[in-house]
Amino acid sequence: MSVQQTASTFGVGDLPEIDVFSAEFRSAPWEVTRRALADSPNGLARSSRGIEALTYAACHTLFSDRRLKIGFDEMYAATGFDESSAVFQSAVTSINNLEGDHHKNLRTLLGSYFNREWVQALRPTVGAIIEDLVDGFEPRGTVDLVTEFSPKIPSRLFTQLIGVPLADATFLERISDQLLKVVYMDPANNEAIEAAYQELADYVNGLIKEKQKAPGDDVVSYLLAAEAAGTVSRRDVVVNTTALLRASTDTTSGQLGLVLAELASRPDLWKLCHADPAVIAPAVMEAVRWRTGAWSILRIAREDLTVLDTEVPAGTEFFGLAATAHRDPEAYPEPDVFRIDRKRPKPTLNWGTGIHYCLGKPIAQVEMEEAVRVLTRRWAAIDFATPFETRGEPFTSQPARMEMTFSVR
Ligand code: HEM
Repeated sequence: MSVQQTASTFGVGDLPEIDVFSAEFRSAPWEVTRRALADSPNGLARSSRGIEALTYAACHTLFSDRRLKIGFDEMYAATGFDESSAVFQSAVTSINNLEGDHHKNLRTLLGSYFNREWVQALRPTVGAIIEDLVDGFEPRGTVDLVTEFSPKIPSRLFTQLIGVPLADATFLERISDQLLKVVYMDPANNEAIEAAYQELADYVNGLIKEKQKAPGDDVVSYLLAAEAAGTVSRRDVVVNTTALLRASTDTTSGQLGLVLAELASRPDLWKLCHADPAVIAPAVMEAVRWRTGAWSILRIAREDLTVLDTEVPAGTEFFGLAATAHRDPEAYPEPDVFRIDRKRPKPTLNWGTGIHYCLGKPIAQVEMEEAVRVLTRRWAAIDFATPFETRGEPFTSQPARMEMTFSVR
């Protein structure tokens, strides 16, 4: 069925066009967005990959619109994965992509495991992981935070989450690094991604056998208890344990690197975080707004429909640009000023909104806050030894390298 336009609606062709792969967009997307918004009737623009939501309100509308789906099926298929591939099947049947009662059930289950008290009780564990890492490289006075620090925190924490020895963190970090590559939608990575997923699934299946013999208070034992109670299937246990690794490691490591890069470039703020730890939480969230890791979040139209007065055909891909929404003056007054004293700022969008809103946001916050707390307490100053670079835009933003010098207090 073709889309019928009416006088009060727009066609995709009425939207301004932007080049999301241009160097300008990848380094300062809000500059491009502000020009495009002058010609946009509704906060949307078109690009070679689909429709881009530029403003906070447009992103919020997309993320909350139940007529749009997460679309892992389309994303994996477009990247060249066959439906029979294990990673494809796992992604589409995980909590991140499910809908309806199955999704609600898994979300309630995992949400009650990651409850507020559980998350706050993580702080000493996370703090100890960080102190131990810093002990390892501090005597040198230099560190590459991208290879030696940021990815090690979530992978070590994940070993606690699933109840395995700390030594497994290296394996989990390697697998997670391979699985992340799917966001770049480059078929050249598919073989490595599939192989990594197979390794992970074998590992999780082995772990399940151990946890059945000796359950603990970890999330795998918790899911197995739910299986025994008939609430979830064995497949749910395997798929969602692997989904938790995908969801929790590179996302956090990348965003932590960006937050530390921002603080390193603001020596006064670094000092303030040490002098007054109460500023750490708002400083981290302002740094997330300023340097956003989850740059664009995908949604796909299930059917021909009208979104923000724009008629789109089924299958249209929407990208909610959290990175530009975070510089929207309607949502954040004086958006180009870095301010840690914003009064009740709107929630940043890089954790999504709506029924798939990130379940691990408080965990990621604890990891980032503890990293800032420990580093600012131990180091009087930190500086870049080489120019700071990121990669992955316009899909995600990850520090490419962060060779730093620091002075110990
Ligand atoms: C800075 C770190 C993180 C970022 C940027 C991030 C981002 C996201 C995003 C964008 C979504 C999808 C939201 C949507 O489509 O509306 C999501 C979902 C999810 N995240 Fe995170 N995440 C982070 C850390 C974590 C952690 C530490 C966990 C650990 C448990 C986690 C678990 C999940 C789960 C289970 C979902 C699926 C929720 C659902 O579909 O109902 N995330 N996250």
